[in-house]
Amino acid sequence: MVSLLDFEARAKALLPADVWDFIDGGSGCEITMRANRQALDSVSVYPRVLGGALSGTEVSLLGASMAMPVAVAPMAYQRLVHPAGEIAMAEAACQAGIPLMLSALSSCAVEEVARTGATIWFQLYWLRERPRLEQLIERAQAAGSTALVVTLDVPIMGRRLRDVRNQFALPAGVTAANLADGPASRAHLSSVGESAVAAHTSELFGSALTWSDLQWLRSRSSLPLVVKGILDPRDAVRAVEVGADAVVVSNHGGRQLDGAPASVIALSAVVAEVGQQCPVLVDSGIRSGMDVLRALALGASGVLVGRPLLWALAAGGAAGAAQALSLLGAEFRESLILAGCADPAAAGQLRTDLSSHR
Ligand code: FNR
Repeated sequence: MVSLLDFEARAKALLPADVWDFIDGGSGCEITMRANRQALDSVSVYPRVLGGALSGTEVSLLGASMAMPVAVAPMAYQRLVHPAGEIAMAEAACQAGIPLMLSALSSCAVEEVARTGATIWFQLYWLRERPRLEQLIERAQAAGSTALVVTLDVPIMGRRLRDVRNQFALPAGVTAANLADGPASRAHLSSVGESAVAAHTSELFGSALTWSDLQWLRSRSSLPLVVKGILDPRDAVRAVEVGADAVVVSNHGGRQLDGAPASVIALSAVVAEVGQQCPVLVDSGIRSGMDVLRALALGASGVLVGRPLLWALAAGGAAGAAQALSLLGAEFRESLILAGCADPAAAGQLRTDLSSHR
């Protein structure tokens, strides 16, 4: 394994075809999913020379010291790909010295994941029943989460055709552990012409939210609040006005609106509007240390990595995910050195060009 992409083939060979499709797939014709990679590939970065030695790759975000400007993206139901699920992912994040965003739909309970010692930024989906959402926030805080991440780009789940064709449903052994919603939930009930996971979320999630709901959430917790799933700079401005402490520019890895722009294309305008007020993170398609450098050169303060870490978890559990993160860290370090940067902040000063490889 010499790059994150090497884990992809291993995971695909190991996983049942429908589970592979669930993690690999995007919504609709997967145009946005492909656009994420095309856009990243098209970003050239102008290296500088004679910048002296690299002092390190560490950054500090939302009160957390991080070995590199990377966090594990929140991803539901990780026990689908490995029996140790989110616990193994958290062990890997802890070893790599980076935070783990833990999905509200995690298949291991937040308390168990917290016991690994990892820094947990707990991701909320907007549960339709407000008391249930409140309980979830309480539970995440009591378990020691140090930030809340609210994902706003899933009013309903994007139609993922692979899951519809596969009539994808969760196996009995994988449940939403934080929602006390056992193996009899809708997510386990396979039916023709439907993804059971999508049917479950439409039962569970509120879909008619407004900015006053975000205001409510802001007042409900004093933890740093990260807003995930922003593409339009006007929404970034409003989120910051409401009190968001960071924004994640994301199209959910191409799993929501198919036809939304690539995240790295949307990034610059968001940074221009709110970059002075709060950190702007980006995800969707990050696959290498060079991609992390590209994101930073475009103005991001950090990135989230999604699917590659599921591939690595599938291939080798905690050790696999730790190996992937160690590779990513080494690649990022090398990219900083080759670009002549003394530290991650210097990457923000690099010149970029968005089309030279097209
Ligand atoms: C996700 N993503 C996601 N996001 C979120 O806020 N809560 C969640 O529970 C999930 N679940 C989830 C499951 C799976 C299998 C995938 C692939 C993705 C989206 C995720 O956080 C992130 O935005 C994307 O995965 C980033 O794109 P890449 O790195 O996978 O290309």
